[in-house]
Amino acid sequence: MADDHPNARANEAPDDGANCVVDARNVGKVYQASGESVHALRGVSLTVQRGKFVAIMGASGSGKTTLLHLLGGLDQPSSGQVFVEGDDLSSMGDRRRTLFRRRRIGIVFQGYNLLPTLTALENVALPATLDSSNRAESTERARALLDRVDLAHRVNHRPQAMSGGEQQRVAIARALMNDPVLLLADEPTGNLDTSHAKSIWELLSSLVHESGCTVVAVTHEVDGASFADRIVVLKDGLIVGEMESSGEEHVQSLATRYRELVS
Ligand SMILES: Nc1ncnc2c1ncn2[C@@H]1O[C@H](COP(=O)(O)OP(=O)(O)O)[C@@H](O)[C@H]1O
Ligand SMILES: [Mg+2]
Repeated sequence: MADDHPNARANEAPDDGANCVVDARNVGKVYQASGESVHALRGVSLTVQRGKFVAIMGASGSGKTTLLHLLGGLDQPSSGQVFVEGDDLSSMGDRRRTLFRRRRIGIVFQGYNLLPTLTALENVALPATLDSSNRAESTERARALLDRVDLAHRVNHRPQAMSGGEQQRVAIARALMNDPVLLLADEPTGNLDTSHAKSIWELLSSLVHESGCTVVAVTHEVDGASFADRIVVLKDGLIVGEMESSGEEHVQSLATRYRELVS
């Protein structure tokens, strides 16, 4: 029977989860603070498919940063498991987890976290320098990434000579330096005005839809989250709902639904 027979698909291997970049299973996190237990996450399950853009929304204290840190292997869950591309971060020791993170995961923070004495180019190339890669190749790649984030004209600028929006673009380029399977961003536009914020969300969206990245970004702004494919809403350490996002024109209805979910 020819390959194009209607039943040919039945012979394909079942979906074995190979396209699943993030698989968090019933993840809990309890912090101990001055003799008290703080239940930051109470059993969160989340999968993210390759090439998707997921936003995590929730009020301050709802557990967004905690969840992002667990997805990025910056911390260990108290219960449950976190798989990234099938590798169980929760079973790795600190050293292996750190190496895994450095090679496979890119992270962007609200405060950019650039080194002030280094130029944009040097900041972006830094992750490769840590892995003692070929210097000329790393510099070329860093230059190409700065071009990708529209900063070809700022390669020799130091952070203090750049706007907040430009600094965050440098941080995004740096996060992409080791070609991560997963890019995580924690309130990436928290320090930016509306127009710079919009350009960062557009950039993240274009990285997903034009360059095939997989992105998970935390925000409490509906305008930013509306650029994602899916919005996951956290409240008091639990996922209380999900919203499909279909672009900026639906920001008002997303805002209404979000208020309903967190109220
Ligand atoms: N290192 C920590 N020690 C103790 N409590 C923490 C720690 N980090 C976060 N928390 C608490 O966990 C909860 C969730 O925090 P977080 O994940 O930072 O929320 P969000 O990012 O949504 O604002 C909050 O109640 C916070 O105070
Ligand atoms: Mg936070």
